Amino acid sequence: MKWKTRLTLIATLALGTWCSQAADVNENWKTHCVSCHGKDGKGETKAGKKAGAKDMTDTKYQADLTDAKAFKQIKEGMKEDGKERMKAFGDKLSDDEIKALIAYVRKFKK
Ligand code: HEC
Repeated sequence: MKWKTRLTLIATLALGTWCSQAADVNENWKTHCVSCHGKDGKGETKAGKKAGAKDMTDTKYQADLTDAKAFKQIKEGMKEDGKERMKAFGDKLSDDEIKALIAYVRKFKK
């Protein structure tokens, strides 16, 4: 195989993987998270307001957010005074999908 062909092949493969991953995380965000956090992460949906979802585009919000905390919360959910505020997604999403979603949430940062 010529180096040029090989390079094109690698590029195509890399792009394909990247695209399918991006689609997945978009889908997951739309399916599981938009109802509360909104498409833009601002949490200005009906359910988001009710649950008390914060503005994920806020710089301070992002600064306070650690990957470990976010991971735990997405996996195990969040309860306050015995009331569920955010569902647990551990049974619906794999660890890798959760990690991709955290990276997705990071992108809301202004
Ligand atoms: C039932 C409403 C609801 C749904 C659905 C929901 N969340 Fe949340 N989420 C909340 C609330 C309420 C909070 C706490 C306030 C805040 O940080 O916005 C929160 C907080 C978070 C945080 C911050 C955690 C931290 O450590 O401060 C992340 C990250 C997050 N959600 C990601 C997600 C992802 C990813 C999904 C989809 C898989 C999702 N949420 C679905 C309501 C929801």
